[in-house]
Amino acid sequence: MSVAIEQYLSEQAAKTTLRFLTCGSVDDGKSTLIGRLLYDSKLIFEDQLAALEADSRRQGTQGEDIDFALLVDGLAAEREQGITIDVAYRFFATDRRKFVVADTPGHEQYTRNMATGASNAELAVILIDARKGILTQTRRHSFIASLFGIRHLVLAVNKMDLVAYDEKVFDDIVAQYRQFAAQLGDPEIVPIPMSALKGDNVTDASSHMSWYKGPTLLEHLETVQVDSDLLTAPFRMPVQWVNRPNLDFRGFSGTVAAGRVSPGDAVTVLPSGQRSKVARVVTFEGDLKEALPGQAVTLLLEDEIDISRGDVLAAAQAPPQASDQLGVHLLWMDEQPMFPGRQYYLKTGTRTLPCVVTELKHLVNVNTLETQPAKSLSLNEVGVANVSLSDRVAFDPYQEGRELGSFILIDRQSNATVGAGLFDYSLRRADNIHWQALTVDKAHRASLKHQKPCVIWMTGLSGSGKSTIANLLESRLSDMSRHTYVLDGDNVRHGLNRDLGFTEADRVENIRRVGETAALMTDAGLITIVSFISPFRSERRMVRDRLENGEFIEVFVDTPLDVCEQRDPKGLYQRARAGEISNFTGIDSEYQPPEEPEIHIDTVALSPTQAVERILEFLRQNGKLREM
Ligand code: ADX
Repeated sequence: MSVAIEQYLSEQAAKTTLRFLTCGSVDDGKSTLIGRLLYDSKLIFEDQLAALEADSRRQGTQGEDIDFALLVDGLAAEREQGITIDVAYRFFATDRRKFVVADTPGHEQYTRNMATGASNAELAVILIDARKGILTQTRRHSFIASLFGIRHLVLAVNKMDLVAYDEKVFDDIVAQYRQFAAQLGDPEIVPIPMSALKGDNVTDASSHMSWYKGPTLLEHLETVQVDSDLLTAPFRMPVQWVNRPNLDFRGFSGTVAAGRVSPGDAVTVLPSGQRSKVARVVTFEGDLKEALPGQAVTLLLEDEIDISRGDVLAAAQAPPQASDQLGVHLLWMDEQPMFPGRQYYLKTGTRTLPCVVTELKHLVNVNTLETQPAKSLSLNEVGVANVSLSDRVAFDPYQEGRELGSFILIDRQSNATVGAGLFDYSLRRADNIHWQALTVDKAHRASLKHQKPCVIWMTGLSGSGKSTIANLLESRLSDMSRHTYVLDGDNVRHGLNRDLGFTEADRVENIRRVGETAALMTDAGLITIVSFISPFRSERRMVRDRLENGEFIEVFVDTPLDVCEQRDPKGLYQRARAGEISNFTGIDSEYQPPEEPEIHIDTVALSPTQAVERILEFLRQNGKLREM
């Protein structure tokens, strides 16, 4: 390799990288701006340039001039059809810095894309059309950018050529924006008047706006200081894996997320809170005196302490917090809305664990920042909520540290990412409520009753015969001196759940409460028979997971809709068809049949007595009726 190339490569490697996001729509001139940046800094490859010139002549809107928008929009069109949350990243470099530009569409339906781009960026360029000033979308873009931790904003007041390069227009927009931005915390705001189309103040200083004394966009991007935060932050490293090739070596591998680490540093392990000191910082290229953010290392500690994947190693003098009950901001990214009470997986750092959104406190209107009450969170909506995790996790409030401050929610069935969130604070109540150990336990209570407790969970349409079967089953069990209780939808809805209706959100909460009650009854040693439509797989699954293996017996009371409708024991189907009842299961509300129920009862073929025999037979075969 020639010396010149080597020198070039090492210069490139030594440059810092700025990751930034462009917010705005094509109308604001976003594509033109990105195109101009790439073009003026001679960063478009020659062949791309030739193609662009040809395309501009053919389909551009700029006559003989180059239409920079074409450079960017080709990709955008493709992307905007996709359902996946993707962000187009463009890379370019100048003599002073390397850049990664995240380009996301500007419309509200792409809020989740923007959040994805923002969570990886240090700076956002907020584009404004000088003729239009601050718009709803300007506020939305700024809110999402700052929510996802961007502390550096460039207010790019574009199309100044169309307002005669008037200083007053620019000043008014800047003043108005600063007033709005006061609600966003305290981001750095650098306003720049420009015309991307004419090339004013993008890479070259404008000759039309001598009143403007600040930097051009590129100058600012090349010099803005952003990465000091991560270097001066306290040390954080989520453990990716425990590296134990032989008995003498036990290291904890991961990527330094924030701060620096050196041998001798005192560290705390989260969530356990154990402490030790770093003995060595090992890499493939040998030991290091110090590791910096982004470096993959293996740490050896001075003490033998128990650490597993998903734990976090942190600076002992400034450790993160640990909690299993947290107040969060949540951006919903899925077509299926989020319902409080439903279970998801939460992934933060290298840890993934079950989680329930216990309460949706309110929704934040992304366009106005106003809050409003809500029972569920739909695609692209932002809410403030409480989450409950199956275990304690290490976290930093997002505003203090992005690395341990964010999480995603994953759907348990499809494994898709359905939400992105930020930890705000630990709910103190979790720290104050302990599990009270009781002397008499489940096994003892059950043995006094000489039985094995379990939950017989009947699910099926309204009028399918659940209650009839439940009632008959309880009589038979009681004849056999078994201690039982029936939880029936109609009855429980008169008391415990009288505040709930039949929206999807209310049904989720209905089943969460009934599942919790059934679990308590199981703990009390009872055989509990549950008879609820329980239309959603995800909540039935949640109850199954809440109980011990083998305790949850799902009985699908399978009666076709037309048969239920014909029987119509309470006259409800007729009323639902007449439009007098809405959200009626099977009519205008979904029923998701069980995929693998323990017991499947075809009520057209079996009488209620036969159905009960089938259930008793299952209980017998599985040792549930043995005298204990
Ligand atoms: S669930 O879907 O939330 O599990 P649940 O079993 O508690 O429902 O209650 C169902 C009973 O409420 C039905 O058997 C019926 O008597 C009554 N009901 C009233 N309105 C509705 C409705 N819109 N959909 C279903 N059932 C309803």
